[in-house]
Amino acid sequence: MSTKVAVVTGANKGIGFGIVKLLLLRYDGVVYLTSRDETRGKEAVTKLEALGLFPLYHQLDIADRDSILRFRDHIEKTHGGIDILINNAGVSAGLEVDSTYEEAKYVIDINYFSILTIKELLFPLLRDDARVLNISSDCGHLSNVKNKYWVQRLSQKDLKVEDVNEFVNWYLDSKKNGTFNREDIADGGTVASYRVAKVALSAVTIIHQKELKGTNISVNSMHPGLVRTGMTGEVGFYSIDDAAKVPVDLVLDAPETLRGAYVWYDGKVLDWYDYNADYYFKTVTLFE
Ligand SMILES: NC(=O)c1ccc[n+]([C@@H]2O[C@H](COP(=O)([O-])OP(=O)(O)OC[C@H]3O[C@@H](n4cnc5c(N)ncnc54)[C@H](OP(=O)(O)O)[C@@H]3O)[C@@H](O)[C@H]2O)c1
Repeated sequence: MSTKVAVVTGANKGIGFGIVKLLLLRYDGVVYLTSRDETRGKEAVTKLEALGLFPLYHQLDIADRDSILRFRDHIEKTHGGIDILINNAGVSAGLEVDSTYEEAKYVIDINYFSILTIKELLFPLLRDDARVLNISSDCGHLSNVKNKYWVQRLSQKDLKVEDVNEFVNWYLDSKKNGTFNREDIADGGTVASYRVAKVALSAVTIIHQKELKGTNISVNSMHPGLVRTGMTGEVGFYSIDDAAKVPVDLVLDAPETLRGAYVWYDGKVLDWYDYNADYYFKTVTLFE
């Protein structure tokens, strides 16, 4: 039987690093620590080696198609396939509502559009019972969207990738044209680009799962909790080691029936479509 292969994106620090560490302790296979910057990635590998843990390393910038192609070719040649893919890499913008179009585009490209390239280039390598986990956010629950038209459209059960792209482009256009209305997004439009990107990520998770009908591959998204990392300025109720537990449980132990789900940091499966719920991120929690 071929060696099992797990891949974690954006794993040189933060939650991704914690996930690699726990997978190395629990997973019966090889674990790839990947990073966009090779020096930072190799430093992270050295830290794990000092603990007696031995990940494999490969450069992977999820916003760079050529980098994904190189990674794909490497995995195909070396292992033939992927058993676990954790799409963890992400970026946020400041808390202000007035981010520029360029900032918004950067956040959306990395958190959302890169997942479409990964689907195109890496999903063909997924083995038949593979598990994909997209690290979304509480910013990714549908209740983050307040614009009535988009709430209705994103709630459709036959949602297509084209609908999600139109949603994201509607937001980007509003940033470009200066017509962004902060009331369209929860919490007065704070971190709007990040919310739009993560809502799109969780929406496309459901779509990608449907497209894999007839296979045993599962694709889920989750909110990891408020975790003390560079992204939150080290504010949060979880350490990266604590935050790694539920994601690792999900890819190793979740029942096969868990498909296209949106999972909370405590492992509970939430109704992503429940737009009236208050699961949306409140910036005040950062200052409590
Ligand atoms: N921390 C929280 O409370 C929280 C809450 C909800 C969701 N999340 C999500 O959890 C995930 C991990 O975040 P974190 O808190 O661990 O943040 P973090 O410490 O800032 O780590 C983010 C990681 O993503 C990498 N990355 C960024 N752009 C990349 C790209 N184009 N290609 C490859 N890697 C890239 C970063 O690499 P560099 O070091 O090169 O920048 C870093 O390794 C993200 O998706 C985030 O949105 C976090």
